Amino acid sequence: MTQEKSIQNIPTLVAIIMDGNGRWAKMRGKARPEGHIAGVESVRKVIKAAVAEGIKFLTLYTFSTENWGRPQEEVDAIMELFCRSVIAETPELKKEGVRIRIMGDRIAFSKKVNAYIDRIESDTAEGEALTVVLAMNYSSRYELTATTKDIARMVADGTIKVEEITSEFISQHLYSKDYPDPDLIIRSGGEYRLSNFLMWQAAYSELYFTPTLWPDFDKESLREALEAYAGRQRRFGLVK
Ligand code: IPE
Ligand code: IPE
Ligand code: MG
Repeated sequence: MTQEKSIQNIPTLVAIIMDGNGRWAKMRGKARPEGHIAGVESVRKVIKAAVAEGIKFLTLYTFSTENWGRPQEEVDAIMELFCRSVIAETPELKKEGVRIRIMGDRIAFSKKVNAYIDRIESDTAEGEALTVVLAMNYSSRYELTATTKDIARMVADGTIKVEEITSEFISQHLYSKDYPDPDLIIRSGGEYRLSNFLMWQAAYSELYFTPTLWPDFDKESLREALEAYAGRQRRFGLVK
């Protein structure tokens, strides 16, 4: 077997909009939750591949604030799948050195889901190879609204002056404050939009869209995205 060539210029943070589970299921005459179950397999493969490629942060859009509006059956199935996956995947994640963090407002989750969130975050807290950030009950506008309120309160109670509000200050008060901005954002499933994901953080991210439905996305799909990224020239508004 030939050793795969390593890619130059690996992004520090890759964010993925994991889209296409429902269509994948429909094409097979299955119910939508079957697509989400298959999607967990892709998550497992991509996490393993991300560790192998040397990516340090992987942010996965898992459940948007708007996704609560889906049929209750589907929402329940996704929440149940999350809890089951926590139990099933924790040993392998620990072995791989993966730390799991949840990003989003937890208030909307049931007690049970919150308990599983606490459990996976504490069980994997020592992971140093890769941090996987699961964006759950996350949306960019929700995040920016919450941050705006927090900062407004700091001004109102005199903790900070208006002049202290810089773009760095705002970044440091978002849900994503512990992580760098995404270098690369991948969207599977063929749509060309961000769907309320990391809109502030994506200011200078490279975007990569693929028609591959999320349950079909695998380590080769990740590699293709990384190769495309390696060929990009980022200018950040400057002259190269
Ligand atoms: C993405 O797949 C997963 C979630 C939003 C939870 P979808 O469920 O949106 O799949 P499509 O877009 O309907 O195919
Ligand atoms: C984005 O996908 C949310 C997740 C992948 C979790 P959606 O399927 O919800 O986005 P739209 O509705 O196509 O914009
Ligand atoms: Mg979708």
